[in-house]
Amino acid sequence: MQALPRAAALALAVAAALCGGAAAQTPPLKVGLMLPYTGTYAALGDMIEKGFKLYVQEQGGKLGGREIQYFKVDDESEPSKAIDNANKLVKRDQVDVLVGTVHSGVALAMARVAKENNTLLIVPNAGAGDITGAQCAPNIFRSSFSNWQPGYGSGVVAAGKGYKRAITITWSYAAGAEAVKGFTEGFEKGGGKVIKDLSLPFPNVEFQALLTEIAAQKPDVVFAFFAGGGAPKFLKDYDAAGLKKSIPFIASGFVTDGTLEAAGPSGQGVLTTLHYADNIDTPRNNAFRKSFALAYKANADVYAVQGYDAAQMLGIGLSAVKGDFAKREALQAAMAKAVIDSPRGKFSLSRQHNPVQDIFLREAKGMNNEFRSVAVKALADPGRGCKM
Ligand code: PHB
Repeated sequence: MQALPRAAALALAVAAALCGGAAAQTPPLKVGLMLPYTGTYAALGDMIEKGFKLYVQEQGGKLGGREIQYFKVDDESEPSKAIDNANKLVKRDQVDVLVGTVHSGVALAMARVAKENNTLLIVPNAGAGDITGAQCAPNIFRSSFSNWQPGYGSGVVAAGKGYKRAITITWSYAAGAEAVKGFTEGFEKGGGKVIKDLSLPFPNVEFQALLTEIAAQKPDVVFAFFAGGGAPKFLKDYDAAGLKKSIPFIASGFVTDGTLEAAGPSGQGVLTTLHYADNIDTPRNNAFRKSFALAYKANADVYAVQGYDAAQMLGIGLSAVKGDFAKREALQAAMAKAVIDSPRGKFSLSRQHNPVQDIFLREAKGMNNEFRSVAVKALADPGRGCKM
């Protein structure tokens, strides 16, 4: 009579031990950081990683109860290596989540790999329209912006100042072309006309011939998209050519984000439009900047914010499924409808998974991009071509 209950008790104890053991051994969630750690955009990749890890650290090293394990690949901002690099993380390291990248051309290839393998992808910078447009997918999210958004904001501001003739100047790849498209749309809607688009290959910095052309054409305003290591060189050359004094200038905010020290006096007073300003005086932004400065002995910038928010988005998804990453549909649904409490201000995602956010007019003062006004409120990328 005693044997059966004892066997049952033993079976129960074994089951409990197994369950307990299994729970204790839940493997960490594998996050693959594919970012530029060398080249023109190296500093941007570094800030994104720092921002992402800061949020995870603030949560005690876990998201949704899961420890996070990092895998890293330097994508070099090199589109021709992007598929191979993404596959190192997806196929070799078998990551659960891909986080990356900065360069639009590389990110478009990552989106293809993510789609083919149904890997969750969070883009913490690259603004390529197609990522939340023609290539949109339930497993692809962006914590940053579309290239069109800040460009459009610049166009609205320039038209609002009464400028009529504009010249644009940028690198000839997706990010530059799309920023110019956004600027043109905003500017021409407000009654302006873009008279010339100038460009040079990424990441070249021989601006002189193009600046000579601007000086000859004497437009009312110049719009630019440059970023990373190329941006301060552009600001210095624009100034040295005498254009800073003679022709008003406006740009997507990347030209002065993280670049003000290198740009020196040539960066001061530059007006830009972006979804972040360093001195946004909210408890959320102040706490974030303090925490970042404490952790890294450096000031946060827009890239750090975007990395931080990518981790927040993943955290929201994982918490909704109590860390059970197998519940992908529920996890993605929670991410899609989240309101993210960002240092930039709260934002939600469009149907295509791109942030709907205010675009601010900023002015570079000292080492900060200071808030001046809201250029466009709650701006959504049009998300053209997304079938989801
Ligand atoms: C992009 O390639 O989409 C890109 C790169 C750097 C930036 C912004 C956008 O600062």
